[in-house]
Amino acid sequence: MAETHFGEWIAAHYATLWPELFDPALIGATVGFLAGLAPGGGSALEFGVGTGRIAIPLQDQGLEVYGMELSPAMAAHLDGTGVEVLVGDYATAHMTRTFDIVYLLRNTITNLVTQDEQVRAFENAAAHLRPGGCFVVENYIPRLRDRVFAETPEHLGVEEYDLATQIAVSRHRWIIDGEQREFSSPHRYVWPAELDLMARIAGLRLRERWSDWHRAPFTAASTDHVSVWAKPFSHSRAVPNS
Ligand SMILES: C[S@@+](CC[C@H](N)C(=O)[O-])C[C@H]1O[C@@H](n2cnc3c(N)ncnc32)[C@H](O)[C@@H]1O
Repeated sequence: MAETHFGEWIAAHYATLWPELFDPALIGATVGFLAGLAPGGGSALEFGVGTGRIAIPLQDQGLEVYGMELSPAMAAHLDGTGVEVLVGDYATAHMTRTFDIVYLLRNTITNLVTQDEQVRAFENAAAHLRPGGCFVVENYIPRLRDRVFAETPEHLGVEEYDLATQIAVSRHRWIIDGEQREFSSPHRYVWPAELDLMARIAGLRLRERWSDWHRAPFTAASTDHVSVWAKPFSHSRAVPNS
């Protein structure tokens, strides 16, 4: 059963805790990439929409944007913005329509801590896509030898890996307004190859993979990836990647 670790305090401080996510250049590149997949305006569904960091500026580009979000505290930030949110688990929640794009940002696929749930998320994305539509995932490449992922005067982030269960626990320590705050969350880390297999199970095929939203080439040195799988126009489920 999926659970969210994004409670009231995290929701209220989201932009303070992860200021790098609100870099206008990053937001611009992310929105530009996603909007480019639905030229002329279309519809998009964000899994784990959070406070609308990307959903709101994407809507400003003329797309109709919906979200699914497990945390009522995060979803509350979208009240009155025009982004309609279904509070529920994006692996299983259902909307009675399809979209041009379904997307999942910032490692949120790893918030599902079993392989079954991650596969269900791909199947749920496919079920919410129109034929020809795209599922986009932004995720990190697991760094098993480099456990420190954030180190600033305000923020220390360390990931602890359990190689047997493929679970990473992210431990954060922040100094906010002179006070120390801690937060930890479990993640099922996953490599692109396993995500490709999940996409195949869901009947999607890999269309593009990049290192970032600027379409930098994906290489052995990449720390992150932005992957796009497309739903074929035909009804066949197992579509080999070309
Ligand atoms: C890292 S935040 C990202 C929020 C937003 N997508 C962004 O890019 O700013 C992850 C969000 O996904 C939500 N989430 C995690 N697991 C979920 C699930 N199974 N179903 C729906 N939302 C989920 C969390 O509550 C949180 O709001």
